[in-house]
Amino acid sequence: MENYTLITGATGGLGRAFVDLLGQTSNLILTGTSEAKLKALASEVSEKYNSIKVLYKACDMSIEEDRKNLIDFIKQNGNVNYLVNNAGYIAEGDFLKHDDEEILKIIRVNCEGTIDITQKIIKARNVNEALNIITVASLAAYYPMPHMAIYASTKAMLKNFMIALAIELKDQNVFITTVCPSGIPTTEAMKDAIKAQGKAGKMTMCSPEKVAMLAVKGANKHKLVVVPKAVNKFVKGISKLISEKSLANIVGKIWKKSQSKRNF
Ligand SMILES: NC(=O)c1ccc[n+]([C@@H]2O[C@H](COP(=O)([O-])OP(=O)(O)OC[C@H]3O[C@@H](n4cnc5c(N)ncnc54)[C@H](OP(=O)(O)O)[C@@H]3O)[C@@H](O)[C@H]2O)c1
Repeated sequence: MENYTLITGATGGLGRAFVDLLGQTSNLILTGTSEAKLKALASEVSEKYNSIKVLYKACDMSIEEDRKNLIDFIKQNGNVNYLVNNAGYIAEGDFLKHDDEEILKIIRVNCEGTIDITQKIIKARNVNEALNIITVASLAAYYPMPHMAIYASTKAMLKNFMIALAIELKDQNVFITTVCPSGIPTTEAMKDAIKAQGKAGKMTMCSPEKVAMLAVKGANKHKLVVVPKAVNKFVKGISKLISEKSLANIVGKIWKKSQSKRNF
């Protein structure tokens, strides 16, 4: 069975950066919700890196049946020795403004779907091969985030889960690196949000290419956590030194101001 790198959310901004980087050395399985976008991406990447195999399979990570079909597809085609858990449902706004469906979707994509795929890939792996896993959480995993509470909390859950799992599996040839970036200018909404944060947004943001490069470099060294940029490492450090109440108040004020500027 040939080895593949599975990239979830491959058609998004950061996913694309992982595709470009890892496609230089590895066969790829790309997944996302849109069959049409995946087909176009797979054909572009196959042309660019003609020595690798590129497969794709649409999968809505919030739907159990889709995840099962993705795993069946993988089992028929090869062994995943590199998993990039990148798919994420980014949603901001006050908790009471999200409808029930959106709240469940954020939790299902970011937590349920990612954890389920991770377990199924670990169980299906060829145990004679090392398995590297990169999971994209967020710097928001380090603090409660008023006005983006659900999203930030799913990332905190994911980070804690992945760190714990990395320790559980440390003697089983499975290496898990969690990457916690601040703003990445991928979608128009994210670009606006970063811009609205002024100097702080500019200082903490990192390009998708750099985040992907630092994540892969960290995974090569079997690092547990990667926080891109020194200023974000500082923010992470500070978050441990002040009370949760003060931290949540500061973050809430920054985020509320950014949302008012955008008439969010
Ligand atoms: N941008 C930032 O500032 C930032 C900061 C920290 C962390 N992150 C994290 O970085 C990761 C990538 O985000 P991005 O900025 O590249 O956003 P993006 O461009 O919107 O990409 C998100 C990706 O996730 C996929 N996705 C969304 N819902 C899905 C679902 N139900 N099932 C399967 N795939 C789904 C999308 O696929 P489709 O388009 O096919 O639906 C897309 O490929 C996310 O986990 C995000 O939380 C982003």
